Amino acid sequence: MVHWSPFVMSFKKKYPWIQLAGHAGSFKAGANGRILKKHCECEQRCLSLLMKDVLCPYVPGYHGDVEKDGQKYNQMEDLLAEFDFPCVMDCKMGVRTYLEEELTKARKKPSPRPDMYQKMVEVEPEAPTPEENLQKVVTKPRYMQWRETISSTATLGFRIEGVKKEDGTVNRDFKKTKTRDQVTAAFHDFIKGNKNVLTGYISRLEEIRDTLEISPFFKTHEVIGSSLLFVHDSKGRAKVWMIDFGKTTALPEGDELTHRASWVEGNREDGYLSGLDSLVNIIASMWNSETEV
Ligand SMILES: Nc1ncnc2c1ncn2[C@@H]1O[C@H](COP(=O)(O)OP(=O)(O)OP(=O)(O)O)[C@@H](O)[C@H]1O
Ligand SMILES: [Mg+2]
Repeated sequence: MVHWSPFVMSFKKKYPWIQLAGHAGSFKAGANGRILKKHCECEQRCLSLLMKDVLCPYVPGYHGDVEKDGQKYNQMEDLLAEFDFPCVMDCKMGVRTYLEEELTKARKKPSPRPDMYQKMVEVEPEAPTPEENLQKVVTKPRYMQWRETISSTATLGFRIEGVKKEDGTVNRDFKKTKTRDQVTAAFHDFIKGNKNVLTGYISRLEEIRDTLEISPFFKTHEVIGSSLLFVHDSKGRAKVWMIDFGKTTALPEGDELTHRASWVEGNREDGYLSGLDSLVNIIASMWNSETEV
């Protein structure tokens, strides 16, 4: 398991820039309210296509690649720049966070993994089968599929990766935030009953959903490991963007996904829209319970 403290750096602005998920060291400050993310061919291809898609307003503006200190980066808009002391939440979308291709690869060489068995027991002692307990190993595909069931990924179609609150505290400990009640509690703690923020988030999520439903890019891509980044501030401004296209891959010519159908190995369905439906539903219920008081 990779352990690192949430990555905070000053971007010469009135707020510290924050990276809630991903690998430490993959971001750098850029010029003019931009950030640099370590270059990835796949992400570059997606961002370039997205700039010409109906989804463009919901994706950070992409400004091509640059080289800095011998390393290539993708240059994109810093989504926190327009906020005062922003509160940020990263929700990783979909009913699975690995590509089908990764599962197939892991299957081809299902070597026994004592390290994965160990991680499994630490998180959920009752998860291994009697056979696995006897051998003290699990296979990688087994581990990959189990991992999606400890959070809300497999059931709700998204999971919380990290949160930064207005007091500056950062929490990345949501690995076992699984039930609808647990997720709702985390959102409560993040939004603190601010009705403007709730309203802002609901309408933005609905706009994103309507746009996803007509987007040619979205129809023709398996979207894995991508997040919705929620950002609001004390002035009540609230927005959501789609980020992280490092594992978003094109389908073969002519194929399309519903993003809502159940995933059966081979159909490449990612459950992105099912996850978005759950999110809208959860936040709308919070809004309703606020008005009842
Ligand atoms: N355009 C942006 N503006 C502001 N913050 C961003 C932006 N892009 C990413 N971040 C921050 O950086 C974090 C990691 O981003 P991202 O998921 O793109 O990186 P990654 O290294 O690909 O992560 P992963 O391991 O999930 O693939 C996000 O959770 C968010 O906090
Ligand atoms: Mg990510």
